[in-house]
Amino acid sequence: MDWGMKNRMARLIRPDGHCFFLAMDHGYFLGPTHRLEKPGQMVQPLLPYVDAIFVTRGVLRAAIPPAIDTPIILRVSGGTSIVGQDLANEGVTTSIQEILRLNAAAVGLSVFIGSSYEHQTLMNLAGLVNQCEEFGVPVMAVTAVGKELEKRDARYLSLACRICAELGARAVKTYWCEDFDKVVESCPVPVVIAGGPKTDNDLQVLEFVYDGIQKGAAGVNLGRNVWQHDHPVAMARALRAVIHDKATPRQAYDFMQSLKAQA
Ligand code: 5RP
Repeated sequence: MDWGMKNRMARLIRPDGHCFFLAMDHGYFLGPTHRLEKPGQMVQPLLPYVDAIFVTRGVLRAAIPPAIDTPIILRVSGGTSIVGQDLANEGVTTSIQEILRLNAAAVGLSVFIGSSYEHQTLMNLAGLVNQCEEFGVPVMAVTAVGKELEKRDARYLSLACRICAELGARAVKTYWCEDFDKVVESCPVPVVIAGGPKTDNDLQVLEFVYDGIQKGAAGVNLGRNVWQHDHPVAMARALRAVIHDKATPRQAYDFMQSLKAQA
């Protein structure tokens, strides 16, 4: 690994081996998602508590101040929408020149393994790795399932993560599942846990993140359960406590309640 690649990876995965990425890329196929309508305002108070933000080039240019220190993971796949025919029919949306111009610390792209677009999206990944490796930019593969949420079990996710790593992804973002250790153990690169729709059960979110970290995940790439929360900063700080400070879910939950009481 050359210095540039090492430096980018080190900015993303902190010295304790863990990371908290804030996903805010949802508009690339969902449009103006609830509480992400004004991404610049949403993210500002959260920046001190996250290790990177996952964002498209459009929102980055329009809404994120260039003076921030927070590393940028650029979402570089897309071309579909929630009202279109098939979410899996993605292409690569961003050139390597643009990735470098935007000073991205990494890029993220979805693959849809088992879908009609498996070959296309895996070749998107392989082509992107070819371009990004030349310039020391890590590629994070996202094991997407579109609307087929039932696919999210250890057998499928292990297969998907391993294939992404084999094609050259430097990290893989996937869903948490039962027996998550099986997913992590068979994946030779860091695994990051995605979130999912906002739940009303904060403790449950802290518990699956804790379980994932205990079982070897590097960290999380969470969005809606943070910025759709009524107290996003308290939730971000509670997650950070689990990810970086070894807090148990209950300790982090109590910490969040104390922050909410002070607000
Ligand atoms: C959307 C994504 C998101 O980055 C990922 O799903 C994490 O966000 P959330 O926690 O809201 O599910 O890839 O395409």
